[in-house]
Amino acid sequence: MTMSKSAAIVLAAGLGTRMKSTKPKVMHAIAGRPMVNHVIANLMMAKVSKIVGVIGPDMKALEAAVAPHKTAVQVDRLGTAHAVLAAREALSGFEGSILIAFGDTPLISPTTFIRMLEAAKSAEVVVLGFRPDDPGAYGRLITDAKDNLQAIVEFKDATDAERALNLCNSGVMCVSGAHLFGLLDQINNDNVAGEYYLTDIVELARTGGLQCVCVEGAEEELLGVNSRVELGRAEQLVQADLRHNAMVNGATLMDPDSVYFSFDTKLGQDVIVEPNVFFGPKVVVDDEVVIKAFSHLEDTKVERGVVMGPYARLRPGAHVMQDAKIGNFVEIKNARIEEGAKVNHLSYIGDARVGAGANIGAGTITCNYDGFFKYHTDIGAGAFIGSNTALVAPVNIGDGANVGAGSTITKDIDAGSLGLTRSPQKILKGWATAFRNKQAAAKADKNK
Ligand code: UD1
Ligand code: CA
Repeated sequence: MTMSKSAAIVLAAGLGTRMKSTKPKVMHAIAGRPMVNHVIANLMMAKVSKIVGVIGPDMKALEAAVAPHKTAVQVDRLGTAHAVLAAREALSGFEGSILIAFGDTPLISPTTFIRMLEAAKSAEVVVLGFRPDDPGAYGRLITDAKDNLQAIVEFKDATDAERALNLCNSGVMCVSGAHLFGLLDQINNDNVAGEYYLTDIVELARTGGLQCVCVEGAEEELLGVNSRVELGRAEQLVQADLRHNAMVNGATLMDPDSVYFSFDTKLGQDVIVEPNVFFGPKVVVDDEVVIKAFSHLEDTKVERGVVMGPYARLRPGAHVMQDAKIGNFVEIKNARIEEGAKVNHLSYIGDARVGAGANIGAGTITCNYDGFFKYHTDIGAGAFIGSNTALVAPVNIGDGANVGAGSTITKDIDAGSLGLTRSPQKILKGWATAFRNKQAAAKADKNK
């Protein structure tokens, strides 16, 4: 016999009414990524070779999130067994182990999936159980004296004695592909909920002489997300992990609990992150970067030695190169700030390149948008842009050019030249003193 591959079915057809949302439950994000993608990523890390998502009708965004993996549509939601049957065609002829995971149970680690696949080498049905502090309404696992799994009883259908058991069903199973769909065909909906329960598979497998075992997992991994409160709890657990990993990998987080990461944030060594910093998806920070308090970054690349913030905002497509400085209240979008350039105060740099060593004065704005299209601003190496300048794109500032403070630049400036748009300054000698004296006298008269 050749070593059989494994597959996985991710159930995600539920609407999640308790989320009170217009989007499918599993599309709600944890650490910047939909729940369902956490499950898929962990299954991939467990080397599952084929994944099928079971979704409801009209869930285009969910279908796209699951892609390139296949989706199967469960039209009526008649229960978890019925949902698994929707994946039958997509897995026809597959005889390896099939993991069944729930899209709303996003924290199960690759290790736990691997443990289940290992157990599946000697049992046709493997169920992931756990012992929560409060077993609540979870299905209960019924075992015999030798710890063999006999049956799963849903809470609604359980007797008081069964409800007193604390070994619970996480919902995750691993079933041999040779038996899965045949067993599902035998399941009926003769129960309190009137649903086709996947959990009935255990008793049917036992009756058919197949091996059923339980693998136990940790409660934190098995948190199911049914409400925004549980979503918040899952977010906290994931954030705690991400903060821990960042520190283990050599970043200093001055106040770890106030720093928020995305699932894919990459921080180098000797990065210092001050309190209250937010990392959206796709941020890569190289070694020896300092990110000062209250900065917000997404889809951004930050190279070695950069210092940014406090209150820096790096929006998608920002690329800050080695040793550049981004100061307070500076917004960078789709722009490359090259080596050693400085944008230190109150600026908007969008759709632009700022050449190496250039200095951007306080309050500089790239006017990149005319209400219809976006245009590029190019600032050469070593250029000096005076404070409070508006650069009306498309416009090029040559290498080593200067722009006088307060200018509105609409035409290109050659390398080494000065561009200046300013009405000539007048001096009225003694005017201010005369004005002040006149007004003070008038006010004194009036108050008499
Ligand atoms: C299920 C288990 C229960 C276990 C609990 C753990 C069954 C019958 N019960 O109960 O033993 O303790 O999970 O959280 O399996 N889904 C579909 N189509 C359907 C029904 C459900 O895709 O027709 C999906 C849901 O979107 C969800 C998952 O299956 O992702 C679980 O369904 P849910 O109704 O939440 O099951 P529970 O009642 O929580
Ligand atoms: Ca549930």
